[in-house]
This record gives sequence, C-alpha cells and structure tokens, in this order.
Amino acid sequence: MECRKELLPADSCKPKPTDESKLGFGQIFCDHMFLMDYEKGKDWHDPRIVPYGPLALSPAALVLHYGQEVFEGLKAYRGVDGGIYMFRPQANLERMNRSNKRLCIPELPVQETLEHLFELVKTEHEWVPTLEGTSLYIRPTVIATEACLGVKVSSKYLYFVIMGPVGAYYPEGFNPVRIYVEENYVRASVGGVGEAKTMGNYAASLLAAEEAHAKGFTQVLWLDACDRKSIEEVGTMNMFFVIDGEVITSPLHGSILPGITRDSVLTMCRHWDLNVSERKLTIDEVLEAQAAGKLEEAFGTGTAAVISPVGSIHYRGTDYTVADGQTGPLSHKLYDELTGIQLGKRPDPFGWVV
Ligand code: COI
Repeated sequence: MECRKELLPADSCKPKPTDESKLGFGQIFCDHMFLMDYEKGKDWHDPRIVPYGPLALSPAALVLHYGQEVFEGLKAYRGVDGGIYMFRPQANLERMNRSNKRLCIPELPVQETLEHLFELVKTEHEWVPTLEGTSLYIRPTVIATEACLGVKVSSKYLYFVIMGPVGAYYPEGFNPVRIYVEENYVRASVGGVGEAKTMGNYAASLLAAEEAHAKGFTQVLWLDACDRKSIEEVGTMNMFFVIDGEVITSPLHGSILPGITRDSVLTMCRHWDLNVSERKLTIDEVLEAQAAGKLEEAFGTGTAAVISPVGSIHYRGTDYTVADGQTGPLSHKLYDELTGIQLGKRPDPFGWVV
C-alpha cells in the first residue's frame, strides 16, 4: 500500500532541540505523524504521513470509554557512522499484534507496517538526536474509534505513530533507584491483560506509583496478584535479580509483559554462558539471599530506560541494600553491550539492528 504524504513546508517545521543533554522523555514531538484507518470490510487502508497535530475523535469513541487500545514503544538511534538504525522493530510489531488479539483489535500487516515505520523515520531523520544516551522514541498506537456507548468490539480503528527525541527515562539515568515492594495494589493477574501492552495496565499502576513517589521511592516492585509473594515487574519494566551467580527473571506466565529488552538481555546472558533462569522468585527468597550476602544485583529492563539498576528494596518498613547500593557489573556489561549494538559500536551477532 502506497503511503500518501502531506508534508509541511520546511519553513513551517519546528526548530530541533539545541541542547540534547536536556531532552528528558516524551515531551517533544516531531513535525509529522503516521495515520492509517481500519473499517470492517475495508481492512487497514489509507496509510499517510501528515503534520503532527490533534486527532479528530468522537467523544463517544469506544477507546475513550472502554479502553480498547494497544501501544508500542521502540527507538531509532544515530549510529556512530552517522546512519540511522532501529532495534528489533519487527519484534515490536509482532508483539503489537499479540496485544491486538487480546484486545479484539484487527492485526496489522507486519511487513507493510514496518515499511511505513521506516518511511516515517526517514521523513523525520533530522529529528534523530546525536548525543550518546539519546534516541528517537517511536510510539505506534491503535485506538477504537467507533462512536458507541454500548460495550462492544469496535468496527473502526485508527493506527497512528508519533515520535520525538528523548534522553534518559528516569532522572536517575543509569544510577541505582530505590524501589518499594507493593503489597496493597497489583498490576495484573493471569488471565487479565497484563501481558498485552494496553493503556489499562498503566492506568492501574498510577496510584501505587504516586504513593511510592510520595514516600521517596522511584518505582514500585509488583508482586503476584494471588500469592502476593512472587516478583512480577518493576514500574513499567521487567525485573531481573542476580543471586549467587544465577540470573533470574519471572517466566512469561500470563501477567508479565514480554519485553523486547527482557528478551535481548536473556539472549545475551545465555550467549555469555551465564546461569539464566526464567522462574518464579519470591520476595522472601530475595531477602534471604540479601541476608546471606548472595544478592549480587537487581535491575529493571525496558525500551525506555534500557537497564535501570536497583540500589535498594523497601519491604514492610525496612530498606534492604542491593550490592552496596552501586550499579553492579552485569548491569554495566548489559548496558554497554546493548547500547553498543544499538549504536553500531559493537558487533551485532543476533541481527537485531536494521
Ligand atoms: C518501556 O520501557 O518499554 C515502556 O514501556 C515504558 C513506557 C510506558 C514509557
């Protein structure tokens, strides 16, 4: 499907940020966005790149009432050779289709959607920042647009992609964060929508995050909704622990988001012949390991933050320090390797960069 383009004249485009060290996350948007419609009987149609701006939406659009929505997050990088590279974009679109299935949203044609992503990034290539630690964040999203107040599957959708230059997701950057083990609220449960990247999961996390922030913590450590002991995720990221030489993360048992960074970290650790387990791990086991001096590292993984080291864990009124509160060696190694591959500084043995 040919992508139609309605581009702004060059003199109407916004000035690009001049100080890339102050970018922050998700506040600056490129001049153009991508749109594509779906209607029952007409499939996905009318792909187009248009000036960035407000969407015209009925106040009765189903997404606004019942949350039939799915989104993705991926990045384009300015490589050390000056070229622009994306990291595993196909994996994001495949995950988007799995989320779509769970939310009864029609799947997107992966190959064509990928071509449209490349076209949009090419159109906005001047927006890809150059400073190390920065990138162009890409947010593909599908929303249900049929105007109807009955609870039902929409017959109409809008797929859109917006983008903008970003720096570090957390103000701490790559410095260790303090996390709060959440016992009152849960993020998701098996059989729900926790493994889909959909707005409701993030809305459900806000109150716990607000309460944790008010107590001085950066992130919430989520526990299993049923046993209230097994570790699920941390904030908006997948969670990893290193205990006595074993690298542990929760299995994808139904309520965990299948992170692309999670998968990349597991692949790299296995490639390095580390002892890697996708298994249930309880907060008690973590604290026992801490008491025995065997808790070597803890870190979160996600597209936005990449690797976020954990310096301390707060549980039932006590702060437990992880690895002297410093960023551990595996966190460093993973961050260097992953960003090295993304920027073309290091070989890409897994064929992740396109
Ligand atoms: C990610 O790190 O991939 C995320 O999903 C964070 C995003 C919600 C800002």
